[in-house]
Amino acid sequence: MVWVLAGLGLVLLLALLYWQIIIAEGAYLGAQVVTLLYDWGAASYDRIKNVHPVDEAVYLAHPLLARLSDVRSPWILDVATGTGRLPLAVVQQLDFSGRVVGLDLSAKMLRQARLKLAPFRNRVTLIQQAAGNLPFRDDAFDAVTSLEALEFVPDPPRAVAEMVRVLKPGGLLLITNRIGWEARLLQGRYCGRGHMEEVLAALPVREVQTERWQVYYDLIWARKEERGKA
Ligand SMILES: C[S@@+](CC[C@H](N)C(=O)[O-])C[C@H]1O[C@@H](n2cnc3c(N)ncnc32)[C@H](O)[C@@H]1O
Repeated sequence: MVWVLAGLGLVLLLALLYWQIIIAEGAYLGAQVVTLLYDWGAASYDRIKNVHPVDEAVYLAHPLLARLSDVRSPWILDVATGTGRLPLAVVQQLDFSGRVVGLDLSAKMLRQARLKLAPFRNRVTLIQQAAGNLPFRDDAFDAVTSLEALEFVPDPPRAVAEMVRVLKPGGLLLITNRIGWEARLLQGRYCGRGHMEEVLAALPVREVQTERWQVYYDLIWARKEERGKA
């Protein structure tokens, strides 16, 4: 009987750890735990993620730059940039002549980004900083992006509000929304269809468009309201 209870306890403990560490990636345990986990996994992140450069160009960089085609040299901020996925996809496009600022809390993820983006260092700036408190003036960027990260930040609505604050009026917002069965295990993290759109409804944005992207993420596009229209 004791062995059965001990076995059951072990299974429950492993399930709890799987949920908190693998699925939630420390999101319920605070920003320090999330950062520690990403620091630990930074060296293998790209190998595990295994994104394809053509997919990144077709499904990310091209739609983003097409929406920015009326801006000559756009300034893009990528919040929670990780190993520099979005900056790399964008600066590799021949028609992109702007700059990208990538921001993340994990020093080791940023170190990987720095290595990958070394050939483009004159057009990419990387900063170690939390998403909830962006160190930029209002209306600074032509586009603000954040991929596969909002569910891990301490206060997702605050992080999105910060992104909108630093966007120029008419500027482009691109964020992801976690979907799929794992999203159901992330209660209170604004995952699953509709929750992030509710967050955006309280902010000065228009033209909110949700688009299927990957099995576990939708893309959400929006534009910041111009002055006087909010
Ligand atoms: C799943 S990775 C996504 C990275 C990148 N955007 C991509 O699509 O590959 C999540 C990233 O969010 C970062 N992150 C988590 N919480 C953060 C916070 N509060 N502020 C800034 N970055 C954060 C992590 O360090 C990690 O690099």
